Amino acid sequence: MGAGSIGCWLGGRLAAAGTAVQLVGRPRVLDALRRNGLTLTDREGGRTEVPADRLQLFDEVPAGARPSLVLLCVKSGATADAARQLGDCLPAGTPVLSMQNGLSNVATAQQAAPSLQWLPGMVPYNVAELGPGRFHRGTEGVLAAQDHAALRHWLPRFHAAGLPMALHADLAPVQWGKLLLNLNNAVNALSGLPLRAQLLDRDLRGCTAALIAETLAVLGRAGIRPAKMSPLPPAWVPSVLRLPTPLFRIVAARMLRIDDKARSSMADDLALGRTTEVDALQGEVIRLATSLGLAAPQNACIRALVLDWPTRRERFTGVALQQAMGLAAGPGTSG
Ligand SMILES: NC(=O)c1ccc[n+]([C@@H]2O[C@H](COP(=O)([O-])OP(=O)(O)OC[C@H]3O[C@@H](n4cnc5c(N)ncnc54)[C@H](OP(=O)(O)O)[C@@H]3O)[C@@H](O)[C@H]2O)c1
Repeated sequence: MGAGSIGCWLGGRLAAAGTAVQLVGRPRVLDALRRNGLTLTDREGGRTEVPADRLQLFDEVPAGARPSLVLLCVKSGATADAARQLGDCLPAGTPVLSMQNGLSNVATAQQAAPSLQWLPGMVPYNVAELGPGRFHRGTEGVLAAQDHAALRHWLPRFHAAGLPMALHADLAPVQWGKLLLNLNNAVNALSGLPLRAQLLDRDLRGCTAALIAETLAVLGRAGIRPAKMSPLPPAWVPSVLRLPTPLFRIVAARMLRIDDKARSSMADDLALGRTTEVDALQGEVIRLATSLGLAAPQNACIRALVLDWPTRRERFTGVALQQAMGLAAGPGTSG
């Protein structure tokens, strides 16, 4: 449900491995798939093609559909509508696994369609749309989901499709671990720079470090221990981001293995005037802080700048963003 980057990647891999998959999406993507079929590539050089005549494409949930599993792959702002559409059409109890970022999508979906069995999942890697019908996985990792009987028998099938998935008794620490890294999306979007160039700017890294440090403090107060989603333990990430760039290049070499042109999808959302997922990321931190009677001023500032971006369309240098966040003057881009 939501045949975009993640939906086409997951659905396409499952279809290529022999699972009957129905992709529900928008005309822009579906027309491209009808014309070109689906081509999936990855950073290890893998290439999977699914010809157009083997794809089952729908612009709404097909009448009478009885799926044994639904993967919810819309952006967070589209969750409630998509959930309502699924709830109107599918039998009660149909399992729906949210493959979305953030932590609130399952609760939002549950409220919109209480008859379905909603489960949280997590996609650790980046998938980008390279062209019509062409999607590329640019980083690596193992899918994660909340452990549930409805998912266990799917594991071999996901594995055979090149989509290894781990089940967790409690997915929240994994989701928070991923969210910590995704806090950089807004910094990247506001900078207007490709991801790699942004990560090589010490002042911009300082902004992300402040967001992560503030979030770690809130999580600590909430008694939540975020899972390790990068080679570094979460508590070390702010210090590593603040290192002088020559040292950062060495310590974070893996983080910098990114295509020169790659941007966060939030940068694309801003450029195209689409709703961003900032409320599912910085907004999640602010909600948790508020629930504890705390403030999260750095995350609140960045959220406000992203929401305000369409009116000002201002690109921030690292120093300007640090100033906007009220951080001490940065160490300078020469670092
Ligand atoms: N891309 C990544 O690398 C990545 C990695 C990890 C996690 N994620 C998460 O995965 C989720 C999906 O991201 P994405 O990058 O795949 O987004 P995306 O490329 O925008 O794909 C979502 C697609 O679903 C469509 N859609 C929305 N509502 C729909 C509905 N009711 N019926 C049919 N189609 C609908 C959207 O159309 P409209 O544009 O018209 O709404 C869009 O084409 C997000 O929560 C994201 O944070 C993404």
